[in-house]
Amino acid sequence: MYRKPFIDIYLKNGFDFDEAKSEVDFVLDVLFNYSYKDFMLSKKLEDWQRDKLVKIIQERVSTRKPIQQIIGQAYFCARKFFVNEYTLVPRPETEILVKNVLELASKYDKPKILDIGCGTGCIALTCMMENKNITADAIDISEQALEISQKNALFHNILERINFFKSDLFENVGKKYDIIVSNPPYIPLKDKENLQTEVRNFDPELALFTEDEKGIEFYEKIISKAKNYLNDSGFLAFEIGINQAKDITLLIEKFGCKLIKIEKDFNNIERVIIAQKI
Ligand SMILES: C[S@@+](CC[C@H](N)C(=O)[O-])C[C@H]1O[C@@H](n2cnc3c(N)ncnc32)[C@H](O)[C@@H]1O
Repeated sequence: MYRKPFIDIYLKNGFDFDEAKSEVDFVLDVLFNYSYKDFMLSKKLEDWQRDKLVKIIQERVSTRKPIQQIIGQAYFCARKFFVNEYTLVPRPETEILVKNVLELASKYDKPKILDIGCGTGCIALTCMMENKNITADAIDISEQALEISQKNALFHNILERINFFKSDLFENVGKKYDIIVSNPPYIPLKDKENLQTEVRNFDPELALFTEDEKGIEFYEKIISKAKNYLNDSGFLAFEIGINQAKDITLLIEKFGCKLIKIEKDFNNIERVIIAQKI
C-alpha cells in the first residue's frame, strides 16, 4: 500500500485513519499531481517527494497546523484556492452558501454580487466560474487576505470580472447589488477555548471571532444597512453559526427584509439563511 508509511505517521500521533488517508491523498495530488491512477500504473514517488511528504506530515502532526495551511492550497467546490495564515481555510459548509447564491443569481440576466469578508475569494470566485454572467465586488478588512483573493482570481483567470477592495463592511462600498453574500466571523470570543486546536491556533482571529455574546454582531451591522446597498427585491445570503438562525431572522424582520429560506448542513445544523429586500 503506497500510502501506508505516510498514514502510519498520522496514526502514531492519534489521528484517525480516514483523516490520515484523505490528507495523504490531498498532498500527493496538490504537490505532485499524483493520483490513485498513478499508483495503479506503478508510478513511483521520487526520493525527494517522499522526503517532502514526510516533512509535511511531521509538521502537521507535531503542530496540528491544518494541512491546507502547510502546503498553501485548499480545495473548495472541487477547485484549488491559495490560502495562507491570513485567510480562513474554505469549509465544506460554505459550499452550501455558494449553491444558494447560484440559485439566486439564476434569476438575473447579469447578476451583480457583493461578497463581504471575501477571505480567499472562494465564494465570489466560485460563483463567477459557475455563472459567467456574474460580476462581483469582493471586500475584506484584511489587506493580506485581499492579496490572496486576487492571486486566486488571477489563477482562475477571472480577474477582469471582479473588483477587490479594502473595506470595513460597507465603509468603502458605493454601489447597489442584486445579491449581497457574506460568511462573516460568527464565533463569540468567549468560545475560543472550546475550539479545535487547528482552528484556535491557526485560523486568523479576524476571520473567526465576534465581541458579542451570541456571535451575531456582523449580521446586525450588515442587515441594518443592507437596504441601502441592495437593488429593489435584492437578496442577502449568509452562512450562519449554530443556533443563530432565530436571532438573525429577528434582525431580518427588524430591518425591513423578509426571510426566504434557512438551509441545514450535513450535520443537520441551520447553516445558510436567505433574505430579500421588501
Ligand atoms: C469567516 S471568514 C470568511 C472568508 C471567506 N469568505 C470564506 O467563506 O471562506 C470572514 C472574513 O471576514 C473578514 N472580516 C472580518 N471583519 C471584517 C470587517 N469589519 N469588514 C470586512 N471584512 C471583515 C475577515 O478578514 C475574513 O476574511
